[in-house]
Amino acid sequence: MCGIVGIVGREAVATRLVDALKRLEYRGYDSAGVATIDGGRLDRRRAEGKLVNLERKLAETPLPGTIGIAHTRWATHGAPTEANAHPHFVDGVAVVHNGIIENFSEIKDELTAGGAVFATQTDTEIVAQLLAKLRRDGFGRREAMHKMLKRVTGAYALAVIFEDDPSTIMAARSGPPLAIGYGDGEMFLGSDAIALSPFTNEISYLIDGDWAVIGRDGAHIFDLDGNPVERPRQVSQAASYMIDKGNHRHFMEKEIYEQPEVISRALASYVDFLAGRIRPVAGPIDFAVVPGLAISACGTAYLAGLVGKYWFERYARLPVEIDVASEFRYREIPLNPASAALFISQSGETADTLASLRYCREAGLKIGAVVNVRESTIARESDAVFPILAGPEIGVASTKAFTCQLSVLASLAISAGRARGTISEAEEKELVRHLSEMPRIMSRVLNTIQPTIEQLARELAKCRDVLYLGRGTSYPLAMEGALKLKEISYIHAEGYAAGELKHGPIALIDENMPVIVIAPHDRFFEKTVSNMQEVAARGGRIIFITDTRGAAASKLATMATIVMPDVDELITPMIYSLPIQLLAYHTAVFMGTDVDQPRNLAKSVTVE
Ligand code: G6P
Repeated sequence: MCGIVGIVGREAVATRLVDALKRLEYRGYDSAGVATIDGGRLDRRRAEGKLVNLERKLAETPLPGTIGIAHTRWATHGAPTEANAHPHFVDGVAVVHNGIIENFSEIKDELTAGGAVFATQTDTEIVAQLLAKLRRDGFGRREAMHKMLKRVTGAYALAVIFEDDPSTIMAARSGPPLAIGYGDGEMFLGSDAIALSPFTNEISYLIDGDWAVIGRDGAHIFDLDGNPVERPRQVSQAASYMIDKGNHRHFMEKEIYEQPEVISRALASYVDFLAGRIRPVAGPIDFAVVPGLAISACGTAYLAGLVGKYWFERYARLPVEIDVASEFRYREIPLNPASAALFISQSGETADTLASLRYCREAGLKIGAVVNVRESTIARESDAVFPILAGPEIGVASTKAFTCQLSVLASLAISAGRARGTISEAEEKELVRHLSEMPRIMSRVLNTIQPTIEQLARELAKCRDVLYLGRGTSYPLAMEGALKLKEISYIHAEGYAAGELKHGPIALIDENMPVIVIAPHDRFFEKTVSNMQEVAARGGRIIFITDTRGAAASKLATMATIVMPDVDELITPMIYSLPIQLLAYHTAVFMGTDVDQPRNLAKSVTVE
């Protein structure tokens, strides 16, 4: 989703702004732009598509100036054209914006009636138009900013520069995140700490309703009523992470191969391997007494939550209500205030997930956050934070965050089971043993399955539709497999509960549609094999992902069988994530798509 950066510097800023935008590329975007003030004049370069196009323009006609703002745009209102790309200029005001101004058409009508002429189809332009009008009406820069903020509603992170003040950036936040970075005689602004990490690791985050006036020597922050407020400065961890692809072709590939290592790290903070137990979950959520658990999330994080539901219900006998956040928040679910709620989010900024969290807070539930970005809004608004410790995930299609989310949810479910007395000490030891074996098994799988997967991916790349089937926790995994494939290869894919096959999708089966069946030799195996028979009987081509016991037990002819090691049911979702991630990855590579930044997708979805 849109990324914002700003620098009030001592030297030229345009190149540095574009470098910072590169670090926000992972969020997904379809046009970009940069504006600076030099010699008392605002100027800008904008381009459709990737940042190389913007860089080319800057190389042809450089943009001098020691103050500037820049933006990567993920189109919401108006096509991703150069004219709609930010920064937007109106009468000496330049604006970049992430979010959606909800009352834009009302304000636009009003401004148009007053003679304003709009140059773009964006909602953002009303911010620039409104500020320009307030300046014409005689208001000073700060007053104009404050009045504009009082007028607009919706979600925004904003950065503004005024042509008549080459030493100040103004910023505001209501929804999407915005961080101020402190440098040495220079100040920075960015959508996240990763964007700012080459410049500074000293960060303060604006909170909703804040706006700031940022000069070369510091920032003044105000609340929506105009009262000065202090936001703590913190040292960000972002700089300590290597954000490069290493020897890999894509971030996604790197992140897939990193999983054994990051999962070890994540597990180490939840599991006491020596004692064979999950470290007790101290804090405000007491799993021993909660009558139920509500889980809400979006995308891949939601599918991790679905797997979590199976675990919490099975191991802790804890009923789980789960829904995608965009539905959860509006369903008017009658929630028991004694229950707890868990929100799962890699970025910790997803607008719908955050809104569901606030809904549950209103209802009086204790809130837990399973997040990757610990400084995120969802983490900050939660009573208990369960970090997944995956490190920055740059590929838009989530991989390592998913398996780390699963690892944390598995640990929490076991811990809840112990607290509720639904699993014994011996059972806990056994489950912990399986968790402890997971990174090693993952490494082994990653080292061996690639050739089979690559071969298969060549075939999949020719297909128009693919069906994924699974039962138990392999059902959400089937949905995750389909999601991964459609996200990055643009092949239509559906994930179904194997038992639902005959209630609809069986009508689609023919010799052209591969059916990927995820079926470890667990308590569901026989039933899933029966569903496979139904596919085979109709000439369907089966790609069978199973284990050595499953491969030996099934006599069905398949297009391919991917044989995984025999592992305990607890860890199959993490282990079987690897073939489905690699299958999607290699198919996309064969098709030549933009694997790390697939079209139309955003990493951090900060609008509804
Ligand atoms: C976007 C991303 C997905 C992600 C989802 C939820 O759609 O492309 O990969 O799963 O948002 O994001 P979150 O940051 O809340 O996990």
